[in-house]
Amino acid sequence: MARVALVTGGTRGIGEEISRALQRAGRTVVATYASNDKAAEAFSKETGIRVYKFDAANFEECSAAVTKITAEVGPIEILVNNAGITRDGTLQKMSRDMWDAVIDTNLGSCYNLCKLTFEHMRNSKFGRIVNIGSINGQAGQYGQVNYAAAKSGIHGFTKALALEGARFGITVNAIAPGYVDTEMVRAVPPDVLVKIVARIPVGRLGKPGDISRGVVFLTDDDCDFVTGSTLSINGGQHMY
Ligand SMILES: NC(=O)c1ccc[n+]([C@@H]2O[C@H](COP(=O)([O-])OP(=O)(O)OC[C@H]3O[C@@H](n4cnc5c(N)ncnc54)[C@H](OP(=O)(O)O)[C@@H]3O)[C@@H](O)[C@H]2O)c1
Repeated sequence: MARVALVTGGTRGIGEEISRALQRAGRTVVATYASNDKAAEAFSKETGIRVYKFDAANFEECSAAVTKITAEVGPIEILVNNAGITRDGTLQKMSRDMWDAVIDTNLGSCYNLCKLTFEHMRNSKFGRIVNIGSINGQAGQYGQVNYAAAKSGIHGFTKALALEGARFGITVNAIAPGYVDTEMVRAVPPDVLVKIVARIPVGRLGKPGDISRGVVFLTDDDCDFVTGSTLSINGGQHMY
């Protein structure tokens, strides 16, 4: 039977392409989202992929959703923690709410979903976890102490959990995308974006497919010797 893969934030942007790529790779994909029903419905209609709406930052909502998905689709053996948000501002202008929202959504969601799926993976002696970090968690970024801290945290979380999963056949890896052409990046002011592209050696923004290719590789059943790593997919912008 096809393995069940859950992609948080899997209905739009990079996550949408990850969901589609895992489906093409023969996985039974489940995609989650937070609020954009219209995008989720259109995505589900087109792909036939089941979608579940819950806040990945909220442990109780995650717990209820994992129980539901396990009953309706099957136990989750591939987990892609992709859901993420930005709430940019210099530290001086950053409220505690902006800090909490970004830490809870980007990093807290990794704790929530890993915590709720890890036991089954341990018992079945198989699991593939990919956490989506960011170049800005590796290199830092002006006006993003919250986002850089959350994404940097993901890279540490990944290494620590990889150690816990290794003897149970569970691999835990991260991908650190550079700037990828999605709504998140389209929100960056055009003049800033021009400067960003000028700093990318391959001369273009990333495409969601550049990232999903990495996820398919890291979640392959045979990819069992790669764990605790961070795959940088950034057009050469930052070599870590
Ligand atoms: N785009 C880039 O250049 C870039 C670069 C480096 C890293 N990343 C990372 O890559 C990931 C995807 O980015 P993207 O650009 O594709 O973002 P996006 O287009 O804004 O899509 C974000 C997705 O996450 C979902 N989401 C947001 N908050 C959530 C929550 N609390 N609970 C559940 N789902 C939630 C959204 O759901 P709704 O559709 O309901 O809003 C949406 O499906 C993020 O982790 C981001 O930090 C992106």
